[in-house]
Amino acid sequence: MKKGVVQVMGKFEILDHPLIQHKLTIIRNEHCGTREFRQVVNEIAELMAYEVSRDMPLEDVEVQTPVQVTTAKQLAGKKVVIVPILRAGLGMVDGILELIPAAKVGHVGMYRDEETLQPHEYFVKMPEDLENREMIVVDPMLATGGSAIMAVDALKKRGAKTIKFVCLVAAPEGVKALREAHPDIDVYSAALDDHLNEDGYIVPGLGDAGDRLFGTK
Ligand code: PRP
Ligand code: URA
Repeated sequence: MKKGVVQVMGKFEILDHPLIQHKLTIIRNEHCGTREFRQVVNEIAELMAYEVSRDMPLEDVEVQTPVQVTTAKQLAGKKVVIVPILRAGLGMVDGILELIPAAKVGHVGMYRDEETLQPHEYFVKMPEDLENREMIVVDPMLATGGSAIMAVDALKKRGAKTIKFVCLVAAPEGVKALREAHPDIDVYSAALDDHLNEDGYIVPGLGDAGDRLFGTK
């Protein structure tokens, strides 16, 4: 960081709305099948988008109602880009688009080496002009944090300045690593779980989010 530049620390927030918590319990259940899992992940993402967009700036605009002209509010901030980390992040996109239909969607392809747990980037496709957009990176799972950190690196490298990260289940290890690597971004999760096991899975977690969303093993 340049001398004299004040670093504003992003926040870490658990979104504990009762509907989000109830739906998260549904998908944690090992008997929740692919179809229901997919649907409920999108429902949670939509509810989370409502909370995550709470700080979007507004501006006054004149509108002619059928009765008279009045001053009302409209969104004034940066245009939103939703960025799913492939594959599992795809499961959250439609839910957020329900609330923010004009958002663009960029993709970051990332897989975790099962042995080393290190992420590998295999695809990045973004809209132009990231500097003037608000990026919402989505991935159901924040485990070691490696994938999230690399995804945010990829966006910053392409000019992004305003970035939020939204997940469903986070491990303390991942939250710490992400906030150390990128202290400027806001991080939102529906739950903060206990720990990572020796295979890098979140405990209690919900298993492999990609496999559960897409019915693979
Ligand atoms: C999962 C998950 C995250 C990542 C989290 O993806 O969707 O992207 O692991 O782990 P980390 O915090 O330790 O990096 P995975 O690599 O299994 O790929 P997939 O989505 O294609 O199944
Ligand atoms: N990725 C998943 O899908 N689940 C975990 O518990 C950890 C990483």
